[in-house]
Amino acid sequence: MKKGAYLENLFKLPVPANETEIRILQLTDTHLFADKKKTLLGINTADSYSAVLEAIATQKQRFDLIITTGDLAQEPAITSYQYFARGMAELLPTPCVWLPGNHDNQKIMADVLFDEGITATKQVTISDNWQILLLDSQVSEQPYGHLSDHQLLWMEQCLQMFPQHYTLVALHHPPLACGCRWLDQNNLRNASMLAEIVLRYPRVTTLLCGHIHQEIDLNWCGKRLLATPSTCIQFKPDHATFTLDNAAPGWRCINLQPDGTVKTQVKRLANGLFYPDINANGY
Ligand SMILES: [Fe+2]
Repeated sequence: MKKGAYLENLFKLPVPANETEIRILQLTDTHLFADKKKTLLGINTADSYSAVLEAIATQKQRFDLIITTGDLAQEPAITSYQYFARGMAELLPTPCVWLPGNHDNQKIMADVLFDEGITATKQVTISDNWQILLLDSQVSEQPYGHLSDHQLLWMEQCLQMFPQHYTLVALHHPPLACGCRWLDQNNLRNASMLAEIVLRYPRVTTLLCGHIHQEIDLNWCGKRLLATPSTCIQFKPDHATFTLDNAAPGWRCINLQPDGTVKTQVKRLANGLFYPDINANGY
């Protein structure tokens, strides 16, 4: 596998033959710094990331795959991504896949994660039932998202490659408004082009996002659209202007069933361990 590339090669997830469901862990928006002492709006993001990993390990739940949905770094330096990867190593041997968020430097991210043993693959097939596609919605130096013609074409090729597989599509930027005007101006700008494709493929059942630092579980174009709390700061739902939430850092567990059903649950740390600077007015 080539270093530093956003690879679109196929990865077949090895799953024990006696398993009937695929268990996925989603982590998103870890916003790590090069210096572990730094905080983001009052929360030390390295500490909250470690606390989330520790809580997951304590629950002794087995996962087949970890999907990380971007903004792994607040400060996209080599050491930020090394901290992330070394956290993932604690959950070995579970394989991890990733896509970039608006805060990430994709070149550094790809190089470091590759060096740390994390695959760059963007298409994962599981048994004869499911495939997972990881899209790049990053626009260089911009907070909003856009899917290039290449990304859309590649997605459609993957869907044609496995027409009988149910498909989960992951991308950083949600394609719909979540109800926070300040965030919604920075969602996926060409959502209609994504909709035009997924509407033609009934087996695309679910989209999985990060970016908005809050939980959503909505219907978009007849598909289930999920977004997940960050492992650090949370944005308050249904607020037109930037507002932080005291909700605890979280993660999402997803079970993919052979018949296409998706069961999912957001989990959080206990309240009171991490409080942001609630009076902050932007970042
Ligand atoms: Fe983020």
